[in-house]
Amino acid sequence: MQLFSAFCVFSALALQQVAAVTWYYLRFETPSGAYISSFSGNMVAPTLPGAGTYYLWPGLQPSDNAGVLQQVLDGRSGSWWIGSGWCCSDPDLSWGSGFNVNNGATIAFSNKVDSISDGTWATSLKSGSNSATGSFPLPTHPMNQAIFAIELYNVSWTFGALTFTDVVITANTSSTSWCTGGPYNYENAAVVSVSTPSATVSGGTTTCSISKVVLERPA
Ligand SMILES: *[C@@H]1O[C@H](CO)[C@@H](O)[C@H](O)[C@H]1NC(C)=O
Ligand SMILES: *[C@@H]1O[C@H](CO)[C@@H](O)[C@H](O)[C@H]1NC(C)=O
Repeated sequence: MQLFSAFCVFSALALQQVAAVTWYYLRFETPSGAYISSFSGNMVAPTLPGAGTYYLWPGLQPSDNAGVLQQVLDGRSGSWWIGSGWCCSDPDLSWGSGFNVNNGATIAFSNKVDSISDGTWATSLKSGSNSATGSFPLPTHPMNQAIFAIELYNVSWTFGALTFTDVVITANTSSTSWCTGGPYNYENAAVVSVSTPSATVSGGTTTCSISKVVLERPA
C-alpha cells in the first residue's frame, strides 16, 4: 500500500487539485534534539459512509520528514481495515498485517521504539479478539512528531467525529511545553476538541497524557 502522507503536504500543494486530497491533522512536535520513544492510545472507527479512499490514522513522523509510521484505518473496500506501516520509502518496508474493523469499534494502537538511537519500532493493534503486531527498523529516522490525521481522496468528511482516547506520548526531554501547549491544527481545517494535556517528567523523559483528542468536523 502506498499512501501519501503529511510530509508531502507542503511540497505537494500543486498536486492537491489533481489528486483531490483533503487533509485534516493535529500534531504534537518535540523540541529540537528530543525524540519520541512511544505513542499509544485508542482510536474509535467512525461509520464508513461507503467504499472510498478514507485514510484515518495516528502516526509518527521523523524530523527529516522522510515518511510516516502509521496505523491506517482504510475505507477503500467498503468496510474498514486497519494495519501498521511505514509510508513510503527509504527504507522500503512491507506493510504490516491487520484486520477488519466494524463501525464504532475501538482499536488500541501502540508504537514503541527499542531505543531512540537504534530505532526499531514495535507496533501493535488490538480490537476485540483481533490483534496484529509489526516491527519496523527505522534507524536513521528518529521520530519527533505525533500526528492524528484524516486523509481523504475524492471523498469528503461526512463520517462525523474521529475520536482518540487515552493518548500517551513519551519523549526524551524534560521540556513539557510541546505537550502542555496542545497540538498544532493544520490550517485550522478541523474543528477539534482536545482535553488539556498533562506532562510528567522523570529521568529526562516526559510522559504526555491526553485523555481525549477529537477531530469533530470540517471548520
Ligand atoms: C534523545 O536521544 C537521542 C538518541 O539517543 C540523543 O541523540 C538526543 O541527544 C537525546 N535528546 C535529549 C534531549 O536528551
Ligand atoms: C481521484 O480522482 C482523480 C480524478 O478523477 C483520479 O485521477 C484519482 O485517481 C482519484 N484518486 C483516488 C485515490 O481515488
